[in-house]
Formats: sequence, C-alpha cells, structure tokens
Amino acid sequence: MWRVICRNVSTLGVIGAGQMGTGIAIVAAHNANLNVCVHDASEAQVKHSVEFVEKWLKKKRDKGEIKDTDSVLQRIKYTNELKEVAHSDFIVEAISESLEAKLMLFRMLSPLMKSDAVFASNTSSISITKLAGSSAKAQNVIGMHFMNPVPVMTLVEVIKGLQTSDHTLQTTLDLAKRMGKVTTLSEDRPGFIANRILMPYINEAIQVLNEGIATKEHIDETMKLGTNVPMGPLTLADFIGLDTCLSIMQVLHRDFGDSKYRPSPLLVNYVNAGWLGRKTKRGFYTY
Ligand code: NAI
Repeated sequence: MWRVICRNVSTLGVIGAGQMGTGIAIVAAHNANLNVCVHDASEAQVKHSVEFVEKWLKKKRDKGEIKDTDSVLQRIKYTNELKEVAHSDFIVEAISESLEAKLMLFRMLSPLMKSDAVFASNTSSISITKLAGSSAKAQNVIGMHFMNPVPVMTLVEVIKGLQTSDHTLQTTLDLAKRMGKVTTLSEDRPGFIANRILMPYINEAIQVLNEGIATKEHIDETMKLGTNVPMGPLTLADFIGLDTCLSIMQVLHRDFGDSKYRPSPLLVNYVNAGWLGRKTKRGFYTY
C-alpha cells in the first residue's frame, strides 16, 4: 500500500507548561528521545513544570525504571521566547482551553514557523478547522489530543481539520507511535470522541450534586463501583480542572446549539470562585 512519507521530527516545541504540556514534554524526551523546547507565558508555571519533571524522573529512578535521568532532563529546555519554540519541527500547543487565546497564538506563531513544521493543538473540544483557518499554513495544522496524565495514559485522539494534509496526519501518527501512544481518529466535531461522551457525564454528575440528590462522596462511589472506573466523575473533574471542564461544556453548548449541553450552574459558580480543582487545591474536594 502507498504510504505518505512523513517529515523527520527531531525537535518538539511545547507551548503551555501546565499539566498537559509538562506531560507531553516528558513523553517526548523520555519515550521518543526528542529534544524538547517548552514555552509558557507564566514564569511561576515554568518553575512548577521544572519541579514536576524532576520529581517524576526521581520517582522513576528510585523505582529502577530509568537509569539515565540526566539525559532526559537535558533534552528538555524552557524558554520565555515564543520565537525559540517556533524553530521546532513539530509544535504542540497546550495552552488554556480558550478559542481566543489559541487563535491569537496560532496567528503569532504561524509566520515564525518552518514552512513544513506541523502545528498540533491539544485542545479538548475546539474546532481544528477553525484554528487552522487563522494560520497561513492550514495544511500543517492538526488536533493531537493527549489524555491526562500524559505519561500514564496510552491514548492520543487525532483530529484532522478540513485543510489538514495527509503528510501532516502521517507525521502526527508516527510521532504519537514514537512516544509509545495508541491513536484513534476523530472527525472534527465539538468535543471529538472523548469529551463529547465524557464531559456531559461529568456535567450531569455536577447537576446531581447541585440538585441535592446525593453527596459528592456518594456520587463518586456510585459511579466508581457501579461502572468500574478508577475515579468518580467529581474526582475526575477536579483532576482535569474545572475551568477546562467549563470551557469544553461551553464549546459543546455553543457549537451544537443544544440545551442538553448547558453547563451546570454549580460548575460555573466554582470556576467564578477560582475553585478549579487539584491545581488550585480546591474544587469539589480539598487537596
Ligand atoms: P493548565 O491550566 O494546567 O495549563 C495551561 C498553561 O497554559 C498554563 O501554564 C498557562 O500559563 C499557559 N498559557 C496560557 N495562555 C498562554 C499563552 N498564550 N502562551 C503561553 N502559555 C500560555 O491546563 P491543562 O490542563 O494543561 O490544559 C491545556 C490544554 O490541554 C487545554 O486546551 C485543555 O483543554 C487540554 N487538555 C486538558 C486535559 C486535562 O485533563 N486537563 C486533557 C486533555 C487535553
């Protein structure tokens, strides 16, 4: 069978050093031996990301799973200059789930990038076609949706926008494989596969809490033991980040125009309070 020759990726740029970007940097440097350049707008987040990588590597070394942690560490560089990331062969953006912020980033980065570099978005729900529309190299734009926590979860959902070329798709599939990931393909529709199914489930759990039907512990225990999943929906929401959950529900609600995707008012309230889950040490639970 004829196979598209993919680009040779040796450097990966990661934009956004939050929980997802940090995880992506780890698997790229550790599993795929790539040189990784990470950029974040917040210095505090960079510090947090560096600490996380160091802690993760130490844990692996203590367990005897990695011997040479220094070489992995040396492959990950941090920068506060967006243009330094722009020189990479492949860039994954993992900034906050905001259409405006991602569009602005795509517009700024597009003229700085190598002409054949791939620009992948780790978005949970936003249209890849729409993001690609703001780039002069729309054929090089794709969705590469990693799961949280990235070093642990095997899946990457790949989303081809209307303009995405077969070369870009093949390069992305090959890169995901080098990172040790299994891929699924989704059409470019709001929430793709994973969050189209997962997020209304989480939102409904929040509504059950909001309506006083059960306590948070009983909601989580019911779904955990009742459907044999590792954590209940409210614990999972805290883990994902309540701001990210709300943004995904807003995309589903707006883009489908269907009231069944209306975000729970309790979710809105928590985000307004700055209770975003684990990352702020308070969400449905305290950490
Ligand atoms: P996060 O809140 O942990 O990290 C986002 C990072 O982006 C922050 O460090 C922030 O300082 C940085 N940032 C924001 N705007 C920026 C800009 N213009 N330039 C540079 N840095 C910028 O969020 P998280 O959870 O890592 O999510 C990131 C993306 O990954 C979102 O699109 C989200 O939907 C997606 N995602 C999240 C998952 C999760 O479970 N949290 C799972 C899969 C995808």
